[in-house]
Amino acid sequence: MTNPLLTTPSWTALAAHVATAKTLHLRDLFAADPRRFDTFSIRADGLLLDYSKQRVTAETMRRLRDLWATADVSGWVGRLRSGETINHTEHRAVLHHALRHQGKDPILFDGHDVMPDVRRVLDHVKSFCDAIHGRHWRGATGEPITDIVNIGIGGSDLGPRMASQALTANRHRDVKVHYVANLDGADLAMILADLQPRTTLFIVASKTFTTQETMQNARSARAWLVAALGEVAVERHFVAVSTNLEEVAAFGIDTVNAFEFWDWVGGRFSLWSAIGLPLALSIGFDNFARLLAGGAAMDRHFFETPVESNLPATLALLDLWNTNFLGAETHAVLPYSQSLGLLPRYLQQLEMESNGKQVGRDGQSVGHATSPVLWGEPGTNGQHAFYQLLHQGGRLIPCDFIAAAHADFDLPGHHEKLLANCFAQSEALMRGKTLAEAEAELAAVPLAPTFLAPYKVFPGNQPTSTLILPSIDPYTLGQLIALYEQKTFALGVLWNLNAFDQWGVEYGKQLASRLLPIIEGKQPTTGLDSSTTGLIAACREGK
Ligand code: F6P
Repeated sequence: MTNPLLTTPSWTALAAHVATAKTLHLRDLFAADPRRFDTFSIRADGLLLDYSKQRVTAETMRRLRDLWATADVSGWVGRLRSGETINHTEHRAVLHHALRHQGKDPILFDGHDVMPDVRRVLDHVKSFCDAIHGRHWRGATGEPITDIVNIGIGGSDLGPRMASQALTANRHRDVKVHYVANLDGADLAMILADLQPRTTLFIVASKTFTTQETMQNARSARAWLVAALGEVAVERHFVAVSTNLEEVAAFGIDTVNAFEFWDWVGGRFSLWSAIGLPLALSIGFDNFARLLAGGAAMDRHFFETPVESNLPATLALLDLWNTNFLGAETHAVLPYSQSLGLLPRYLQQLEMESNGKQVGRDGQSVGHATSPVLWGEPGTNGQHAFYQLLHQGGRLIPCDFIAAAHADFDLPGHHEKLLANCFAQSEALMRGKTLAEAEAELAAVPLAPTFLAPYKVFPGNQPTSTLILPSIDPYTLGQLIALYEQKTFALGVLWNLNAFDQWGVEYGKQLASRLLPIIEGKQPTTGLDSSTTGLIAACREGK
């Protein structure tokens, strides 16, 4: 069966409505309604979402909200919150919201309150931060730690890496945190080149503690340390974050220095757990706690606010509208903030690993498009690279612009220009420029080459949302991340997907382990396809 939502009157009504919606131009919608911004914007807890530049009318939003009710998203929110095993293919609950929960009430999983465990690990993170920042934790030679290297990949890397960069303004002065993810030895080697074993601490971050990239990097880091300081140094220079304490111990890390988390935390939702340890070390525990509070505030907003003024719900419905009805295949995230430069990369895992799927909860194809390809770069850099295509490439590419009202690094003359560019881009994408306008512009310039008019036409009508944060700080970053997390969850429900598994990453891993002994020359290439055989041969010749 396809996604059951497809055959409901709510979906059918949207399918009928889209024919009219496609004939509308945003320029005309704005001209016809001076209050369009008021109608299509939401303010919540300091954030502003302006979706007036999306290709929607009041009727579109009414019908989308009707779909929300039909899909019973609130029922799924209830299942999520009550610890049901909604990740049915891995038989796991999904409780990452417990990691940032601020209330005194319990969060139950299997009849057991998870909050005491959550608080115990948070206390451990706090005391470790205190020990490092207070210079009580010393390396094997008695020197304090100045550099922390987080070794992890995917969810054990992207979240803390993105957030550490986003919160550079809050960085702890005495400790520098580095991130290594890639299996390519260049990643680790380039970081280690500037570090001293005596003052370096490694965090091996892996939910499973079996991930090939992480374990290879961890072994190489260990060898680098042992070569300088001997085997005895490992316990003062390695800590771990994992759900698999047995493997942590097997690696030689004292489990006293292991920070635990649980199966009910998905990798890409794990920033709030001990996976956030490098972030807490980078910005200090109090700031990490503010991030958790921001995430919790967004959860409350998502759980309790009616769909009309619910930020994650609105973003989810707009994504669905753009993807399934207007036909968008990609989605650009454009932060007008250098600090949020890694946000698109982080969201790629969050959204594409969660909802880049075709098989629905019933094991059958859902029968429609799911996650768009998410991409993006910070503005204004992107303006000088790919915005040409956004404006005149003829493709429908919905964009999220994200900006902060106040700069985190307030150099005079920068922030106003940054905002001017951000708002100018969304205005241009909305309004476009007609041939008549282009001709009039040229006519106003003496001797202007009039043949240029068609090159200066901008179709406009490109759907965009703009999210304004008061500033980029730990609390607002927590809100922002949880906003996209809850949007992703909601889209999974609407698309009838399990947003919490990732079977699509398995096949490549399986083939890589089969190829390794062949590339190492321990097994013959017999049985491989001609391309793979040819590629292996080319690398052998190149050696
Ligand atoms: O291969 C994908 C993945 O499983 C991600 O979902 C996860 O975040 C990443 O690998 C890292 O996994 P681990 O934390 O177990 O090393």
